[in-house]
Amino acid sequence: MAGAIAAAAAVGSATLASYLNAKFHIREDLNTFFYGSNPRNALEYLTKKVAEDRLLLYHVLEDQANDPAVGDKEFVVFPTDGRTWTYKQFLQDVNRVGNWLLQELGIQKGEMVALDGVNSPEFLMVWFALDSIGANMSFVNYNLTGKSLEHCLKLCEARYCLVDEEVRHLADPVAASYEQCKMVYYTAHSLASLPYPTSAPPEERRRNIAPTGPKCLLYTSGTTGMPKAVVKTVAFETSSGRSCARYLGLKRSNRFYTCLPLFHGAAHALKKFSHSTFWPEVVSSQADTMQYVGELCRYLINGKPTPLDRQHKIQMAWGNGMRPDVWEPFRQRFGIPIIHELYAASDGMGAMYNRNEGDFSRHAIAIRGLLWNTLKGPYEKMIKIDVVTQEITRDPRTGFAIECARGEPGETIHWINAEEPQAQFEGYYRNKEATNKRFIRDVFRKGDMWFRSGDMMRQDDSGCVYFVDRLGDTYRWKSENVSTNEVSDIMGRFAGIAECNVYGVLVPNADGRAGCAAVVLADGVTEDALDFNALGEYALASMPRYAAPVFLRVTPSLGYTSTMKLQKGKLRQEGCDVAMAEAAGDKMYWLPPNGLKYVPFTQEEYARLKSGEIRL
Ligand SMILES: *[C@@H]1O[C@H](CO)[C@@H](O)[C@H](O)[C@H]1NC(C)=O
Ligand SMILES: *[C@@H]1O[C@H](CO)[C@@H](O)[C@H](O)[C@H]1NC(C)=O
Ligand SMILES: *[C@@H]1O[C@H](CO)[C@@H](O)[C@H](O)[C@H]1NC(C)=O
Repeated sequence: MAGAIAAAAAVGSATLASYLNAKFHIREDLNTFFYGSNPRNALEYLTKKVAEDRLLLYHVLEDQANDPAVGDKEFVVFPTDGRTWTYKQFLQDVNRVGNWLLQELGIQKGEMVALDGVNSPEFLMVWFALDSIGANMSFVNYNLTGKSLEHCLKLCEARYCLVDEEVRHLADPVAASYEQCKMVYYTAHSLASLPYPTSAPPEERRRNIAPTGPKCLLYTSGTTGMPKAVVKTVAFETSSGRSCARYLGLKRSNRFYTCLPLFHGAAHALKKFSHSTFWPEVVSSQADTMQYVGELCRYLINGKPTPLDRQHKIQMAWGNGMRPDVWEPFRQRFGIPIIHELYAASDGMGAMYNRNEGDFSRHAIAIRGLLWNTLKGPYEKMIKIDVVTQEITRDPRTGFAIECARGEPGETIHWINAEEPQAQFEGYYRNKEATNKRFIRDVFRKGDMWFRSGDMMRQDDSGCVYFVDRLGDTYRWKSENVSTNEVSDIMGRFAGIAECNVYGVLVPNADGRAGCAAVVLADGVTEDALDFNALGEYALASMPRYAAPVFLRVTPSLGYTSTMKLQKGKLRQEGCDVAMAEAAGDKMYWLPPNGLKYVPFTQEEYARLKSGEIRL
């Protein structure tokens, strides 16, 4: 690959540009947010970077630091403790950490190193430092421990995992059980006092890097069991941030605030989010752009009004999952004119976005006009789905899928070139089975191939597209995707439980779906005999709190479809409505907020949940 690039570079930049274009589909990718609204510009940029052999993010930082107009400007502001860095200062710190990684740990060029840390300037420092010595990063979810963390480390075959001291308690047990990967802990102090030079690590480390080569691994599901990883290429890493900034129209003077985890592509959760610090940080950092996930905005509008609500400088909120009931109240209360909603997945195709300033397109994730319909319409469809089995509904006469009419919800799917599917969806890292599950064939004609987004959407007559629901096994709770199979597997292992069906239920006054596990007790085990205290402890010890089912529904038997799939539809619909469960002869239990064991869930508590007196 490196050879092909070098050869192309020798022939000239026009050839190189067409090579890169063919490889990354940049021109065709008009709709892909990562290349922004100006694919030609993105292509030129990439071509230039390849020709200069300066393809890394580190080079971008270096260019900024060395630019006299920029170098002394603030690059990182950490409102949590008031520390700030200019581009120059940050580059020096990055270099020192890079030299340490090189000399002390002997990290090789091209070596994959795991990084497990909460948001901090040091996290960014270690990330850029790995880049500075030509290493690759495996961004581990810092909430993981036990088998899931071990799985990630095994999958990426890292020799080292650089761990923030703050999550030592989660990483240490894995250091003991999986010795092939050595945990190296860091703190702000340890990195600041490294006795290494602040000059750049050897240049050779950053040379001859192929744009199509891997750069980092992002994990898609940080819940339980086995997270899946996707590879991001060097070119993606280098150009996506730039394209995003151009797409959003960010200028040098803009300040972008995020409290979303840096280990994840578009940032997906609220782990460091705190009500009490959010607005003070936004105000003190003087940010004019903020990033959100839907729940963050819901928390913010549920908070008590304070003068800070209007003392910030935010002009645009950018993120994903803003719920319709939050959208306008959020804009009005905090006086933020632009809500820029993005729909994208690190393991998906066809990002969507909607820059909304007024009534039109409110609550939408995309707008489809004539141009889109002509250029992209044939490659993206919404089709009817059986929401119980999650299977595609096929026309009994033709055997092909049925496109949704306007206003009808369906799963969004993307056309894939069946000859070369990996060119569009590279797949999950070392997981063919999971990759193949994303593909479907014979959708509109024999032999065609499409990619399943796993998401239900709806398009109205004016061309606005709305997100309806996640499809499939996964549901979303506390901003996390929770895989029902994985949770079922864990719950089903508890002594006394014979069968388990996990699904997400809507809960009054909360976003997403809370986990509910319908369980069938083992033969001879009565409800009185089952140890609900121990079950709660077991669930909380075996998975992150957001994945542990909030509700239990003890039932005599589970329903299956004709294809032996567990039926979730009816259960999901009945949700946590105690009366309905009891009418069906079932008994409900729950894990109350902050509770550690399952206790009976009564009609009275359900009423308090509905009235908002209890919130989940
Ligand atoms: C994730 O980890 C952070 C940092 O240790 C912690 O503050 C947070 O509560 C954790 N979140 C979950 C959902 O476990
Ligand atoms: C790391 O990235 C380099 C450059 O893209 C690549 O050549 C190498 O194979 C990668 N290593 C791993 C372990 O993925
Ligand atoms: C959950 O799924 C959505 C949609 O596929 C994706 O955008 C998001 O990044 C996922 N979150 C996690 C934690 O994997």
